[in-house]
Amino acid sequence: MAFDLKKVALVVGVSLTVIIVVCSVQYVFTVGWKQQSNDVVEPGRFSDPSLKFVTILFRHGNRAPEFKCNTDPYKNTFPEGKLELTKKGKQNMYKKGQIFRRLYNGFLSDLYLDSEILVKTTNTSRTFMSAALVLAGMYPPKGYQKWSDSETVWQPIPIYGDSPDHGTLFNERGKCPAFDSMVIKLRNQSDNLTDKNITALMTYLSEKCGQPITHKNIMKLYDLLLCRLADGLPQLEWIEPYHIETIKPIVINEQSSKRFFENYGFQKIVIGPLLNEIGLNMESRSNNYNRTRKMHLYSGHDISVKMAMSFLGNTINLPDFGASLHFHLYHHDEINEHTIKMFFYDRWDNEEGKEVSIPICGNPCTFKDFKNLLENNFSEEWTEECQKLES
Ligand SMILES: *[C@@H]1O[C@H](CO)[C@@H](O)[C@H](O)[C@H]1NC(C)=O
Ligand SMILES: *[C@@H]1O[C@H](CO)[C@@H](O)[C@H](O)[C@H]1NC(C)=O
Ligand SMILES: *[C@@H]1O[C@H](CO)[C@@H](O)[C@H](O)[C@H]1NC(C)=O
Ligand SMILES: *[C@@H]1O[C@H](CO)[C@@H](O)[C@H](O)[C@H]1NC(C)=O
Ligand SMILES: *[C@@H]1O[C@H](CO)[C@@H](O)[C@H](O)[C@H]1NC(C)=O
Ligand SMILES: *[C@@H]1O[C@H](CO)[C@@H](O)[C@H](O)[C@H]1NC(C)=O
Repeated sequence: MAFDLKKVALVVGVSLTVIIVVCSVQYVFTVGWKQQSNDVVEPGRFSDPSLKFVTILFRHGNRAPEFKCNTDPYKNTFPEGKLELTKKGKQNMYKKGQIFRRLYNGFLSDLYLDSEILVKTTNTSRTFMSAALVLAGMYPPKGYQKWSDSETVWQPIPIYGDSPDHGTLFNERGKCPAFDSMVIKLRNQSDNLTDKNITALMTYLSEKCGQPITHKNIMKLYDLLLCRLADGLPQLEWIEPYHIETIKPIVINEQSSKRFFENYGFQKIVIGPLLNEIGLNMESRSNNYNRTRKMHLYSGHDISVKMAMSFLGNTINLPDFGASLHFHLYHHDEINEHTIKMFFYDRWDNEEGKEVSIPICGNPCTFKDFKNLLENNFSEEWTEECQKLES
């Protein structure tokens, strides 16, 4: 039999190919698996099987201020425009989503499932965009949900624009007449500080800002200073730290803050419908785990978060960008009862959070008591509530 060189070459060639294929499969498998195991997250702090339902209300990320001084030389700061989410805000909300993933991994599936989570936002660009970024952080496309070779971060996830959160009413004059008239009253009650130092400060600020600064707009100037601080921008040259300290008590007046956040009339209008919806969702969830979603997210505002806390009996500072309030519904099999716990994360990067009590509900706060409370306090129709003008 003649030595068939061709055949040997073929066999060697085939074996080499097989080896190469095996090796690359193995390579792809090991390296690929390693890469994947890098983003596999451990079961989260809240993967407890007795946890049945989660609602999170969060404040949007860093935004641009509404106000600008005529003398401001920085033409290109806040290029996004008034009240819009900034680049820092986008980055922070994406990271906030990653924090939610770490907290709730195991409670939530790895994949985005429409049957598991529902997301709502108020009707502003910054809350819509914050919701989208939080979802990108929570749900990088995996497995069959990878839809593009080049796009590895984002996948489409629905966000609904019908949040019953009315934390935007200060910017929606005419939408709720009762709110507007209560605000006029509130402003009329606020004691405008008139001591000499403040008058001198106002004169100084007006001159430097290039337009009159009064009790009416000093809040907006203060907001501008805070937005710059949050975005890591240098402060306006003519603002010294003690100016901020002096402006703060003028703007954040404890008395007027109480008159707003702790007022039952404002609570009914601003936060009643949202808390009601949360209660109703908890109810349908507790009646049937199979046909309801386990998590609802609401993208909202500092006013909504603080007022919800206020109604439930907690006093907090006006929450920072990306702060979040978490409502957890647990089921205790032994006694067949549902209870509620609440957690508060005071900033976008707070990963520890803290459990906060629900003073008006008691400890433990049973779902029954919580639901009664909402029913007794927020049963009226919102539109009717808004027509009730006190004389
Ligand atoms: C939502 O906002 C847009 C843009 O500001 C406005 O045109 C629209 O009427 C708003 N929708 C509702 C339901 O308020
Ligand atoms: C504001 O308060 C003053 C005095 O307290 C009162 O006379 C006036 O009617 C009030 N104005 C409004 C719009 O409530
Ligand atoms: C305080 O200032 C606000 C805004 O300028 C004004 O509406 C209100 O009537 C003033 N309150 C008093 C008591 O002067
Ligand atoms: C005004 O400011 C000065 C210097 O900061 C301070 O010593 C003084 O107590 C202030 N007066 C009032 C009425 O606040
Ligand atoms: C929910 O699903 C589980 C498992 O699929 C089933 O055993 C249970 O009967 C269902 N419960 C309801 C209320 O449909
Ligand atoms: C809110 O509900 C609680 C508990 O049912 C009740 O005691 C309280 O009077 C209600 N508050 C108002 C203002 O209706």
